Amino acid sequence: MGNIYQKILSKKGFILGLSPMEGITDTVFRQVLCKIGKPDVFFTEFLNVEGFCSEGKENVSHRLLFRDVERPIVFQLWGNVPEFYAKTIKEIRELKPDGIDINMGCSVRDVLSSGRGSALINDKILSNEIIQAVKESSKGIPVSVKTRIGFDKIQTEDWIGFLLEKDLDLLTVHGRLSKENYSTPCRWDEIKRAVSLRDSMNSKTLILGNGDIRNIKQAKEYGKNFGVDGVLIGRAILSNPWLFSDDSKRRMGMITKKERLETLSEHLRIFIKEKGKLDIFNSQKKYIKAYISNFDTASDLRELLMNSNSVEEAFSILSRRDI
Ligand SMILES: Cc1cc2nc3c(=O)[nH]c(=O)nc-3n(C[C@H](O)[C@H](O)[C@H](O)COP(=O)(O)O)c2cc1C
Repeated sequence: MGNIYQKILSKKGFILGLSPMEGITDTVFRQVLCKIGKPDVFFTEFLNVEGFCSEGKENVSHRLLFRDVERPIVFQLWGNVPEFYAKTIKEIRELKPDGIDINMGCSVRDVLSSGRGSALINDKILSNEIIQAVKESSKGIPVSVKTRIGFDKIQTEDWIGFLLEKDLDLLTVHGRLSKENYSTPCRWDEIKRAVSLRDSMNSKTLILGNGDIRNIKQAKEYGKNFGVDGVLIGRAILSNPWLFSDDSKRRMGMITKKERLETLSEHLRIFIKEKGKLDIFNSQKKYIKAYISNFDTASDLRELLMNSNSVEEAFSILSRRDI
């Protein structure tokens, strides 16, 4: 029947995934999304394999927390030591991830300066070693890469062409260079070029496009116009967490105030259950704007919640009748 991505594709005709976002798309948020609008596939926040193979393992392994309801779930790894990828995967295979994704796209300074993430675009020998180590240790778990179209110049033919020779199950192409930030528009024409390259090489690798997609309607239009097998959507989920809902109105952000308040409460309940002992309440404030918006008193309520000091205080604000 093929791998998980092919299964989604044959059932739905298009893959709509949530893009991995460090500090945002954790098990808590993913479990909320499972209730209000679940994508076809989740990716974990990126896990550093060197950290996982060190004494500091406990500090990084929370990124792999998940519940079965979140499946299909793909573990995303980053690092630049092939042996550590192999060692990490040997251990996490027991958790039966639905896929292993290698991060070759991150452009955060600390990641780049250590030769990891999108710095790997400049090192095909090491990239090849990493991919081979991951494929060997994955023992049949689908392997994918998430990357960009170049480091400081467009390298679609050269870099994406190189990755397409690796017989990956899936490749996600973010249409920016490593040196570009979100103020440069995503180059979907280069993503289309990656698809043409794949077709001309007769490669079986599925390609997801990524960058600047705001909603499902746009995702499907882009699918048609640029030929990708699906897309990963990142930041837009924070403008509308209901983005993947089956209901067209919810998908467009038409959510009642009551439901918004209830969903934030549910998020906080899941936070206490899953991460109450691992993380502080303040870390959850970044989600407040996502849920509490688009109604008359939203900004007043947000201010109250942002100034609260504990989950209990937030619950008590959310239960007030005068807000
Ligand atoms: C806060 C934040 C954290 C991110 N963390 C990751 C990550 O852990 N792994 C990864 O591959 N990409 C990461 N990204 C990049 C996104 O997955 C995505 O490629 C990028 O935001 C472009 O897609 P978008 O325009 O739909 O947001 C992150 C982006 C943001 C904004």
